[in-house]
Amino acid sequence: MTTSVLLALAMPSLACAKVSASADGRQLRLDGGGVTYAMGVDEQGYLQPLYWGPALGADAPLVARHPAELSGFDPAGSVTPQEYAGQGEGLVSEPGLKVAFADGNRDLVLKYRSHSIAGETLTVELSDIRRPLTVTLRYTIDPATGIIARSATVHNGDRRPVRVDQIAAATYTLPAGGDYRLHYLTGRHGAEWSQQEAPVTPALTLLESRRGSTGHGNQPWFALEKQGQSSQTDGPVWFGALAWSGSFRLSVGLDNLGRPRIGGGYNPYDFSWTLKAGESLETPVFYAGFTDHGMGDASRRFHTFQRAHIIPGGDAARLRPVLYNSWEATAFNVTESGQMALAEKAAKIGIERFVVDDGWFGARDDDKAGLGDWSVNRRKFPNGLGPLIGKVKALGMDFGLWVEPEMVNVKSDLYRAHPDWVMNFPDRPRTEGRNQLVLNLARKDVRDHILDVLDRLVSENDIAFLKWDYNRNWTEPGWPGVAIEDQQRLQVQYIRNLYFILSELRRRHPGLEIEGCSGGGGRIDLGMMALTDESWISDNTDPYDRLTIQDGFTQAYAPSAMMAWVTDSPNWANGRETSLDFRFLSAMQGSLGIGANLDHWTEADFASAQRWIAAYKTVRRTVQRGDLYRLISPAPDAATSATFYVSQDRKQAVLFAMLHSSQYRDNGLAIHPQGLAPDTIYRLSVLGGAPLPDGLPAEAQGSFWMAQGLRFKLKGDYKGVAIVFEAKPDHAPSG
Ligand code: DGJ
Repeated sequence: MTTSVLLALAMPSLACAKVSASADGRQLRLDGGGVTYAMGVDEQGYLQPLYWGPALGADAPLVARHPAELSGFDPAGSVTPQEYAGQGEGLVSEPGLKVAFADGNRDLVLKYRSHSIAGETLTVELSDIRRPLTVTLRYTIDPATGIIARSATVHNGDRRPVRVDQIAAATYTLPAGGDYRLHYLTGRHGAEWSQQEAPVTPALTLLESRRGSTGHGNQPWFALEKQGQSSQTDGPVWFGALAWSGSFRLSVGLDNLGRPRIGGGYNPYDFSWTLKAGESLETPVFYAGFTDHGMGDASRRFHTFQRAHIIPGGDAARLRPVLYNSWEATAFNVTESGQMALAEKAAKIGIERFVVDDGWFGARDDDKAGLGDWSVNRRKFPNGLGPLIGKVKALGMDFGLWVEPEMVNVKSDLYRAHPDWVMNFPDRPRTEGRNQLVLNLARKDVRDHILDVLDRLVSENDIAFLKWDYNRNWTEPGWPGVAIEDQQRLQVQYIRNLYFILSELRRRHPGLEIEGCSGGGGRIDLGMMALTDESWISDNTDPYDRLTIQDGFTQAYAPSAMMAWVTDSPNWANGRETSLDFRFLSAMQGSLGIGANLDHWTEADFASAQRWIAAYKTVRRTVQRGDLYRLISPAPDAATSATFYVSQDRKQAVLFAMLHSSQYRDNGLAIHPQGLAPDTIYRLSVLGGAPLPDGLPAEAQGSFWMAQGLRFKLKGDYKGVAIVFEAKPDHAPSG
C-alpha cells in the first residue's frame, strides 16, 4: 500500500471550515477539508493570491508585497500577481475583467476596497482606481472537501454605459514552476471524454466552446499536477470546473514570472454585455480544489462535493433506477403496441423505469419534422400516452419521456406559427443541423412557451422522468429585435433562461427527474448537473469504448450521474461484437440502463439480463455513491483495466476487472485494491454467482487485499469479472 493511501486512512475528519481575516484586514483566508487558500492586500492596494495548498497553521507568515518593475518590458503592473485583474496598467496575462468605458478609455485597474465574512462565505469588493466600477468577488469553501466556489459580479456605478468584453468567474494562481502538467478532456460525438495532457508553459492553452453549449469538444474542467511528483495516488493536484452550459473559456498558462494561472468564465468569443447605469453582470461559479494525494483523490473529492452540493437531492437523492430506453431498439418507430410489448419484456428482467425516446410526438417519423410540436402523435398513440403509461405503471415501473424542447424543425406547426423565434441574422441563411434550428431561448416569450408546454405535458401525464436532449450547435446566433449593443447578451441570457425553465419545472413538479443529454455528452457540466439527476455521457454504447469514455467522465464528474446502457451487439458505433456479460459488466460501472432491442433477445438473454440486473441492485449504492479508485486505467493500449468502488461505510466494495484481449499464455496480474478498512475481514464473491477465479482466497483482511493484491487470470477476448467484497459482520469497519 502506498504511503498516501495509509495517510488518507489515518487522516482525522476534516469536516470543518473557517473563513477569516487578519487583525489588520490585509490577509484573507479560507481553510477547510485540509486545504488553505489565502490572499493578501499589498501596500499599494492590490489583492494578491498568496497561497493555495495543504492546510497551513493559523500563524503562517503570509504577506503580500508589491513588486518593483522587472524591466522596462515588465512594469510592476504586469508582474504583480493579482487575484482578479482588470485589463489595464500593462497587464500581459489573461484579465479577470476587460471593459470599454463610454469615453473610449479601456484602462481598468482594480484595487481592494473592503471585505465581509458571513459564515463560510467571503465577499471582497474591488473597484477601479478612478471610475465607479466595482467588482464583487465571492468565495466559499466546503468543509469536507476543501472545494472552493468562486464567482464575480461587475457593477457599473456610473451614469454612462460600460461595455464588458471579457469577464472571468475567477482566476486561480499557483506557485511558480516549470514542471506542471495540465490534464483536460476533449471529444466529439460518439467519442467524448478523451483524456489529454500537456505541459503548462507561457503558451496559453485554451479549453473552450464556441458552440453556444458546453459541446463535445472541450470540457470546462482542468487538473494540474506536478510532473514527476504526482500520480494516481500521490502528489499535488489542483483541479476544478466551471459551472456553465454555454460557450465558455478556460485559459491555462504561465504568466511572465512563471506562475500558472487558470482563468475561466464566459467565452469572450461573440460576447459583450453593455452595462447601463446601475446595472450588474454576474458570472457562473468556477469550482476548484486541491489535494496532496494524486489524481485519484482529486476526482474522489470532486465526486463527493458534487454528490453533496451539486446533484439535486444531495446524498439523500434516490439511487438511479435501472432504466430501459427505446431509442436503439425502435428509433422513431414508436407505437403504443410496440412500446407496450417492450415494456412487458423490460418489467420481467427487473427494469424500474421505462423511457420512450424520440418519435412519440407531432409529425415525427424521422429527424426531418415535428420538433417543437410537443403533442402526442395520435397515429402512433391513438388514445394519447395514457394507456401506455398505465401499462408501464401496472408493470411496476415508472414512465419517462424524451423531449428536445430548445429545437424546432422547419416542418412543424411551431415554426410555421413563429419563424421569428429561432436564432437568426435577418437576410442570412439559417443553417440547419440534423434538419433543425435552435429556438432563441433568450427571448422571454420563447422561454415562457417552452416552460408552459413542458409543464402541461408533465401535469397531464403521469411522467416521472424527462430525457432532455439537445442535438446541434449554434450557427447564426442572431437576436433581431433587441438593440444592437444588447444582441450578444444572447450567449448568457439563453443559458440563464434554460436554467430557469429547468429549475421552475422541478419546482412545480418536485418528483420529476431529468436526464441531461446532447447527442450523448455534448452538454455536461456542473451547471446542467445542478438541474438534472443524471447525464447521458455518450451515444457510443460499445462496452469496450465505454471503458475509456467512463474513465474520462469520472476524472471530472461523479459516477452517480453517469448513465451507461447495455445495447445490442454488434454495436452500431463500431461494429464490435461482445457478449451480453461483457456489456453488462461495462455498463454496471455507472448507473445501469438497457437500450437493446428486447424483441430480438433469446430466452437465455432474458435469463442472463435478469440475473445481472438483480446482481447490480446489490452493489448499486456502492457504485453510485461510493468512492471510485482507478486501479488500472483502461488506456487504449492496455490489455486489462480495473476499477474499484468502495461504499462510504467501507462495508462493501466491488472490483470490475476487464480484459480487452489475451496474449500469449500469461496475462495474470495482481490487482491492488485501495480504500478498504485495513483490519476488516472481507469475504469475496463473484457478482452474478460464478465461482471465484482459481487460487483466490475467499476471505482476508483489507490490509491483505491491498498489499498482496488479487492474483488471477482472465483469458479470452472481451472478458470481465466483478468481485464483491463484503465486510464480515463481526469485522465491520468502525467509523
Ligand atoms: C441523441 C441522443 O443522444 C440519443 O440517445 C437519442 O435520444 C437521440 N438523440 C434521439 O433523437
